[in-house]
Amino acid sequence: MSEPQSATFAPRIFSGVQPSGQLTLGNYLGAIRNFVPLQDTHTCLYCMVDLHAITVWQDPEELARATRHVAAAFIASGLDSVKSALFNQSQVAEHAQLAWVFNCVARLGWLNRMTQFKEKAGKDREKASVGLYAYPTLMAADILLYKATGVPVGEDQKQHLELTRDIAQKFNNDWGKEVFPLTEPLILGDATRVMSLRDGTKKMSKSDPSDLSRINMSDDRDAIATKIRKAKTDPEPLPETVDGLEGRPEADNLVGIYGALAGISKDEVIRQFGGQGFGVFKPALADVAVERLGPIRDEMVRIESDPASLDAILRDGARRAREMAVPVLDEVYDVLGLVR
Ligand code: TYM
Repeated sequence: MSEPQSATFAPRIFSGVQPSGQLTLGNYLGAIRNFVPLQDTHTCLYCMVDLHAITVWQDPEELARATRHVAAAFIASGLDSVKSALFNQSQVAEHAQLAWVFNCVARLGWLNRMTQFKEKAGKDREKASVGLYAYPTLMAADILLYKATGVPVGEDQKQHLELTRDIAQKFNNDWGKEVFPLTEPLILGDATRVMSLRDGTKKMSKSDPSDLSRINMSDDRDAIATKIRKAKTDPEPLPETVDGLEGRPEADNLVGIYGALAGISKDEVIRQFGGQGFGVFKPALADVAVERLGPIRDEMVRIESDPASLDAILRDGARRAREMAVPVLDEVYDVLGLVR
């Protein structure tokens, strides 16, 4: 799907996480842990997308808490605030400025096709905010404000990334200049779509009303063990081959989670546990989850106990992000003929 590009763009990585509700194991395995190794090879920007969060109602105190919570999760998971710019979307006003330009580039028909809007707006579409509808143009602005060439995300963001490419391409065509790259989605690893613990056909989500459906990054050891013990399964033992997971969504999900946490393939998990019942597999999964997530959680608690230091990190990240953003927005304004 990637078209040849004549202009060359320096490799640059951007990704964002919404500060709303709890961070889940899905956010960690599908996105955050993949951010970490990219820091050693690319210029990276990682962002708490608070302007996206307010597309639905957010309690102000809770929004501020959740923003620092995501920042703490980034750092506790291995993001280094010296190597990567860690910041808050609303601290860099250029995101909203470029989003407006993109509102004038994107077509209504494109946004009408966005499945996330349909899911989030539900039946009462008329009552959804205009911001929720325009959400993907702000996301395109987040990415293209830095001319990011790669965006590590979970599978659910694929459609938004395609729209980002459509906007970049239309912008470049309409004004006859290769201002923006056609950004590649980086959907990495084996846990690109972690499913609910209560229903293996539904995505694990921070907005699911049942807390038992997800493992939160802030869960303590007991909560993790309880949720895994209560996770829905079928009565069969684990199959002898990976193909045997077909049609068994809950078993498939738990095997995938085990592999992602232990750093091994599903094949390897099945080699170790094939033929065993969930009575054996679930405690082993709880152990690996606690071993992997426990230290991250402890570190998050420590980081969140010092909000002043955390805020200083974000202000510094925002300053560095603005240094990259301002020349791009200037270029866009010049191309459009907006007098500065
Ligand atoms: P958000 O906040 O819903 O999720 C953050 C990241 O976590 C991934 N993710 C998952 N991966 C695997 N399995 C799951 N169950 C799961 N749940 C969530 C998401 O794919 C995402 O990578 N629109 C974005 C935020 C955003 C953004 C951006 C991302 C705004 N601007 C620019 C990248 C670039 C969102 O709502 O993610």
